[in-house]
Order: sequence, then structure tokens, then C-alpha cells
Amino acid sequence: MAGKPLRSTHWFGTQDRDGFIHRSWMRGFPRDSFDGRPVIGICNTWSELTPCNAHLREIADRVKRGVYEAGGFPLEFPVMSMGETNLRPTAMLFRNLVSMDVEESIRGNPMDGVVLLCGCDKTTPALLMGAASCNLPSIVVSGGPMLNGIFRGQRIGSGTGVWSMSDDVRSGKMALADFMEAETCMSRSAGHCMTMGTASTMASMVEALGMGLPQNAAIPAVDSRRSVLAQEAGRRIVDMVREDLTISKILTRKNFENAIRVNSAIGGSTNAVIHLLAIAGRVGVDLKLDDFDRLGHELPLLVDLMPAGKFLMEDFYYAGGLPAVIREFGDLLHRDAPTVNGKTIGENTASAPCWNREVIRPLGDPMLKHAGIAVLRGNLAPNGAVIKPCAATASLLKHRGRAVVFENIEDLRRRTDLPDLPVDENSVMVLKGAGPRGYPGMPEVGNMPIPRKLLERGVTDMVRISDARMSGTAYGTVVLHVSPESAMGGTLALVQDGDEIELDVDARRLELRVAEDEIARRRAAWKAPAPAATNGYQRLYIDHVMQADRGADFDFLMGCRGAGVPRESH
Ligand code: FES
Repeated sequence: MAGKPLRSTHWFGTQDRDGFIHRSWMRGFPRDSFDGRPVIGICNTWSELTPCNAHLREIADRVKRGVYEAGGFPLEFPVMSMGETNLRPTAMLFRNLVSMDVEESIRGNPMDGVVLLCGCDKTTPALLMGAASCNLPSIVVSGGPMLNGIFRGQRIGSGTGVWSMSDDVRSGKMALADFMEAETCMSRSAGHCMTMGTASTMASMVEALGMGLPQNAAIPAVDSRRSVLAQEAGRRIVDMVREDLTISKILTRKNFENAIRVNSAIGGSTNAVIHLLAIAGRVGVDLKLDDFDRLGHELPLLVDLMPAGKFLMEDFYYAGGLPAVIREFGDLLHRDAPTVNGKTIGENTASAPCWNREVIRPLGDPMLKHAGIAVLRGNLAPNGAVIKPCAATASLLKHRGRAVVFENIEDLRRRTDLPDLPVDENSVMVLKGAGPRGYPGMPEVGNMPIPRKLLERGVTDMVRISDARMSGTAYGTVVLHVSPESAMGGTLALVQDGDEIELDVDARRLELRVAEDEIARRRAAWKAPAPAATNGYQRLYIDHVMQADRGADFDFLMGCRGAGVPRESH
């Protein structure tokens, strides 16, 4: 092949002892596999412990077919997987670890380009972060959402249905036997959560960032068109290597701005804030927490999907998927932003049809006018906190109430349903100790359950505040990602039962209404909790994780280290 030799030739291209070692042990491949053709890594998060990604070996086979067709040499490799439903104490604790696995696997091995196979929530940002730090040509193939959950003729959405039905069981509205039956009706096929939870949000972010082929976000996992997309991605990555179309040429500031805006249109997860900040940090794009409010808040919600609406990802695909949304947003997006197929995002979506205006609303008749994530500040969150107004109760977006404080997650679990918990519908529930360092790993517990005695009185939402995250499938007037977190002595750590708290989303304000000298007195008396771990990976995490407003990446992983060829191994 003409042009500069590919990095894989440093392994496979020499007629000497080292070339012998690299080729001989590979065995089973025809000799011309090593003739200088692009070697494509297929980075796979397949695992039976990550049920959302359990079908990715089949997807990998289709990618391989495409790579061969285009004249490349595909080599599949595993990285650690993270299943949101199984991994404890929280999958987020391992996102940065997996990104390191991805980065070092790419850099240390003979590959010229990489296809990233992901699906379940954290697998997508972890793979993008790792690949971004290497800067080889890269393309994402998401595993795709499950088919719609259907229970007794009604749609039930992953996660969203669990939260609402479990509240119904706790308040006596639903029988436990019915709840157990619903369990088998929700997850009907291969794929990830089919609400607009974090997995669907991040698959949409992949498409909006230009890192996947059109329709990457919404094609159901079991639809034959998902396999076709995987095969086409396999073909395309070979050409991307030939064009030297590296990830940093795709992940420009314009692409991040598009992603933030698209996240408003789809009613996407608050987790997108943390993950986009972390990915941007790896490619040196100076994205800030306030960009999410500045660029996204005024934009409308167009997609009627749970948890903000009523449909599911399968409906979204049949209605036209993300290309229809991008087309609808017109010049609200950078139409000239590049994408992996070599066309701009405007070119990719210029004639994208919409087949169902109930699911994808027109710009002139949105679900909600101002849907983007709001960034709050005040003495309770000097470095910021976030709220997703489209998943909240409008009447609670301006609220003053007395704090009911839970010192940690165990305290919350122990006391929420006690009959004598001093709480009413105007109270503000406050959870401490659930931030990046404190838990550690910043779990999705910010949508605290409504106390049973209030559920029984028909209360369905309350203001809740924490340094935790929330599942993208969840909803409520929930203030998240408070920074600095309580484990670092942020003001959140100083809140006491009965303190007045003011939330004013329009004014972007989150205040602890306690006299300054009293706050100062409490701060002076505050003692940092013992770290949750003193050795092992968790210790590394606690020592190096940055706060939520900086993407909760490790401080030492920021930036792109490239994929220079390392020293020979023998
Ligand atoms: Fe895997 Fe929701 S649990 S995507």
C-alpha cells in the first residue's frame, strides 16, 4: 500500500527474528494477512455478566466480515466489561479503569484502527475515552437497544418501569405477584436498556459526535439492520485508516457542541454531562460544565421517550431515529461537523425522513420548550450541580423546604420508610457520601425513594439533592452531581436536619439558607470521613478521581498520549 507504512508493520513487516515472533505465534492466518494491509482491532466488551452486551460476539463477526471485504485484517480483543445491573458497588467506579485497559491494549498491540463495541452505560464512554487517548482511526458500533418491554399490553421501559412499579408495590397499588410477572416482560431480547436511559443516550451521543454511522443509536439489537451497520462499519474503518481519519479529527469542539444540543432534543441522561466532559478531556477540547446549560438549556425536547415521555427506542427507530432529530434541529447544530463516514453530519441527515410525528415532534411543536440540563450554583454547590428539568415536576423547580438529611446510603436505606421519619411533601431529601470519592464511584442513587408514608398519601415527587448520579432511566426533581462532594468537605457535608434549602432552577440557584457564621462554625468542626479504601484499585480511584464538574476522570489520564510504537518486547 502506498503512503507511510502502517504502525502494524512494526510488528508484522520485518523479515527478522522479531517479525518471525510476531507472525508465527498468530498462527492460522494466511501469509498475506501480514503484507502491510490495515490491521483493525475490534475492542469487545462482550460478557455474560454484562447482559446488555452479551450479543457483541455476533456483532464482532459482522464487523470482521466488513473489514475483510475492504482488504483489512481484523483482530478481536476483549477488555473488561461493566454491566450496570450486576457490578458492585457501581459500574462507574470502573469506567476509568476500563478506559486504561482500552488505551493500553490499543497502544501496545499491532493495530492501525479500532472498532469499539459497546452498549451498556459505562462501556461506551470508557471505550471512547481510551481510544481518544490513543488517537488512531476509530469507529463505534453500539450493540443497540432491546425490543420494547410489553406488560399486559402496555409498554414498560427498562429502569423507568422498575422505579414506578416498585413505588406502586410500596404504596400498595400493585401486587407483588404482578411485579414479579412484569420482570419477565421487560427485557425481551438482546440489547441494552430501551428507554432513553444512559445507554441509549450515549449511543445517541456517539451518533451526534460523528463517531458512529447514521442510525447507530436506535436500530434494535436484534434487527437485521444492526448487523448490516456493523458490517458497514467494518468496511469503513479500513478506509479511515487509509485516509488517516483519526479520532481527534472527528471529536472537534463543534461535535461536542452538537452532542450537548442533541442531548436536549432527546431528553438524554444527566450522565452524558460527566461522560462528555471526560471524553473531551482526553482529546484536549476545553468543554466546561456551564457549556451544557449555555448551549443546551434553551433547546426543546423533541423525542417522546421514557423517562421524559411515553415511547421507547424501538418506536424511535421506526419513527426515523436520530437522523430525523438532527435534521429537525436544522441550523441549531453545526451542520459541517465531521463524521466517521467522511461526510458532514448535515450531509448525512439532509433528507432523513420522520415517519411518526408523535414520537419525534416537529421543532414548532415540541414536548417541552426548554429541555436541556440546567447547571445550578450557590453556596450548596459552588462548583455546580445539575438537574434535568424535563424529568422533574414543574411546580417543584422553584421550592423552599426543610432538609431531611441522610448521612450515607445505609442511613437512607435504614430510615426512609420509618413511620416516624420527620418528613412531609415539602421536605428536601439530602443524601451525603455518594460522590466520586465518598462512595467511592458516584453511584446512581440520587433518585432517593419517596418515603413510604408519603407514597401512601399520593406524593410522587419531592426535591432530592445529593452528590450522587442518577440512572438515565429515572425521573423526579432530583439535583445531582453536587460539587465539591460531601466527602471532600463541600457544603453538602454541613447540611443538618431542619435547615432550609432553596432551589430555583430558573435562577440556577441552590442555596443552604443558614447564616454564614453558622456555616463557618460547622465547617471548622467538620472531620473528613475515613477513606472507603486504603489500598488496591479503590485507593487509586480515591486518590486521583476528579470531581463531577470535571468529568470524574483520573487527573493523570487527561489528554491524548497518542499511539506511538512502543519498544520491541524481546
Ligand atoms: Fe445495561 Fe441499562 S443496564 S444499558
